Amino acid sequence: MRNIIENRVDEFMEMLRYDKSQWGEFWKKMERRFSPILTNYVKKFSINVEGELFGLERRSLDRFYFDFKEYEKTNKGKISERIRKYSEELELSREDFIIFIAVFPGGKDWCVVEGKKENVIFVNAYNLWLKNELTNLHDAVYQAIIHFRHGESGGNYYNKENLFQSISEKIESLSRENVRNYMKRICEILYKNIPYYDWVGFYMVNDENLLELTEFVGEPTEHVKIPIGKGICGQAAALKQVFLVQDVSQESNYLSCSPKVNSEIVVPIFKDGKVIGEIDIDSHYKAPFDARDKLFLETICEVVGKLWK
Ligand code: SME
Repeated sequence: MRNIIENRVDEFMEMLRYDKSQWGEFWKKMERRFSPILTNYVKKFSINVEGELFGLERRSLDRFYFDFKEYEKTNKGKISERIRKYSEELELSREDFIIFIAVFPGGKDWCVVEGKKENVIFVNAYNLWLKNELTNLHDAVYQAIIHFRHGESGGNYYNKENLFQSISEKIESLSRENVRNYMKRICEILYKNIPYYDWVGFYMVNDENLLELTEFVGEPTEHVKIPIGKGICGQAAALKQVFLVQDVSQESNYLSCSPKVNSEIVVPIFKDGKVIGEIDIDSHYKAPFDARDKLFLETICEVVGKLWK
């Protein structure tokens, strides 16, 4: 498979050798060199190049470049490693996009423009640096790809650790008096604040030893009572462990709720070592989950396990 990561930061940082009054000229040169993608970027997102370049500070760019070289030194191969782990789910063999890492005037942290042969996903390393997220460049690239595969044309990087931390604080402030209300509010908060959580629900084991849908947010589902062992939910309960499926089309023991769902994670809720229920998340994205989701959901399940009677 060809290399899909193009690190162009060095070339763009050549602008530091020019006087600021020449940066407009430098950009035009780059547009010609990377024709037609930079021109397409400027047009598609109506970037005012002159204005944006004027706003850039040489001192910041200098410091950025220094940090970028450090990042490169200590993170060799990290980006491709991260992506290749999920090459099937991300459909890398389609070869319909490349990642172009550089510094662009204006715009979002990542965006998609048409290149000559394929789509070009721009990742703005300088934007990430401004947000103190440059060390998460590999994560930002991965995120850009899963959102691109979901049909989006641009967006800003969200740091999952920070996102989950702020959501945990919201959850901590909820009243725990009524456990059903507490669970309902958790579903609402997760659904609303996590971009790739498209269905959030709790199944609890009932008197018939079935997983019964208790609280949820998202499209109604026909799967309101699930036998232990059936589907992803039933398997998580039977195995007493987190069940993560990054591409549901590859899972034969699966109960489909909606054709829009591409991935799912189910985390069991324990009481005295027994599975008493679980939280179930469906996503319309492929391969959006990782160890951070698992940890975050486990913390939620621990509290629910204590409260549930
Ligand atoms: N997909 C689940 C069924 C529940 S829905 O996702 C809401 C499963 O395979 O168990």
